[in-house]
Order: sequence, then C-alpha cells, then structure tokens
Amino acid sequence: MTSEKQIAAETATEYITDGMIVGLGTGSTAEFAVKKIGKLVRSGLSIRGIPTSEITRNIALEEGISLIDFSETMYIDLTIDGADEIDNNLNMIKGGGGALLKEKIVASASKELIIVVSSEKLVENLGNFPLAVEVISFGWEFTFNNLERLGGNPNLRLHHGKPFLTDNGNFIIDCKFNEIKDGIKLEQHLNMIPGVIENGLFLGLCSRMILAKGDKIIMKEKNKI
Ligand code: A5P
Repeated sequence: MTSEKQIAAETATEYITDGMIVGLGTGSTAEFAVKKIGKLVRSGLSIRGIPTSEITRNIALEEGISLIDFSETMYIDLTIDGADEIDNNLNMIKGGGGALLKEKIVASASKELIIVVSSEKLVENLGNFPLAVEVISFGWEFTFNNLERLGGNPNLRLHHGKPFLTDNGNFIIDCKFNEIKDGIKLEQHLNMIPGVIENGLFLGLCSRMILAKGDKIIMKEKNKI
C-alpha cells in the first residue's frame, strides 16, 4: 500500500511545470517528491532544482535532476518540503532532520511553498515536537543556558555520542516548549540569543498544505488577504 507520505508528496509534484526552479525539501516525505521529480525529468520535464541539504543534493543528482544555487537566481518558483508539525494556520515546526537553516532560506525565497505531510503531522497547537535550534558550536553552552532560561528544556542533539553536526558545521539544540502559544514572540526571543543561527519555527511561509489521510488528500491553502 502506498504510504500517506508518498501520496502527499507525489500529489505536490503535479504543481510543477516546465522551466520552473524548484526547491527540493529534506526528509522522508520530501524524498518521495524528489524521486517523483526524477521520474518526470526522465520523461522530459525540464526544471532546475535547489536542494535544502546534502542528502537531498545526492538523491537529486542520482535522479538526474539539474541543480543550481543562489548565484544563478534570487527566487524559486515552487518548493516542496515536509514538516514535523503543522497547524490549521499552516504554521510549522521543521528541522527534525537538521536541515532547517537551508530549508528556511529556500522557503523564504519561494513564490510557493507546498508542505506535504502524513495525517499525524497536523496538530492543534505547535510545540509537542522538539523545536530544533541551530547554534554555532563556539560557546554553545552559553546559548544552551539562554534557551533553558527561555523555558525550552533544551537538549544538545547527539549522533553516535558526539554533537550532531548540521550541513553547515553547526550544532542543534532541541527545545521542548510543549505548547507554543505565541510563535512570533518566541521566534523573536530565540533570534535575540547570541549564538542562535536559525530556529525550526516556520511561520507564514507555507502557501499550501497537502495532507494525505489514508488514500484521501486534504488540501489547505493559505488565506489570501
Ligand atoms: C528536515 O530538517 C525537516 O524539516 C523535515 O522536513 C521534517 O523533519 C519532516 O521529515 P519527515 O518527512 O521525514 O517526517
């Protein structure tokens, strides 16, 4: 049986048209989209991709997708990415895979950001999933202490007993805020802490959610003002 992740991801690729610059997300859901784009490219679709991580870059290259970077463009037509949590206002927590910094740059440069998720990712309130905060390794203990004082119950992310390193050579501190009532305020506080490079709150960036529940698709667009 096709998984919800695969159904959502492959549905999103229907929004890709010839000539587009496409942001390629990271994670197990986004991977289905990258692989489907690979198939489409092999059948004649012409697009250029911008990957959000080294893992995605390698998958895209294996799939034969042409890649570019921001030296060649200032904008992206469409990005397809996953999320760890998404609420009804299409605000999200991302970064479970540690790719949040590039993901946020790519999302911010995208005219359209389609988020593809399996049904359990939709939540009433953000915050149950640990919020990844990317920090510079220098003085991380100081940054950690500040996150603790902010009520983040921080945890340094480890990999085989050593600090997990992002593609950018930084550390990740996972914070458990439990219920994030005011995401904008929290993001402001996080960004003011010296050593914090980026956080996994993605507010107001998603333009369309494609959620698969069983074999059904639930689609939600950002309210247009
Ligand atoms: C990667 O850093 C994340 O933002 C992913 O997009 C997110 O963790 C979703 O991953 P899965 O699709 O594997 O659940």
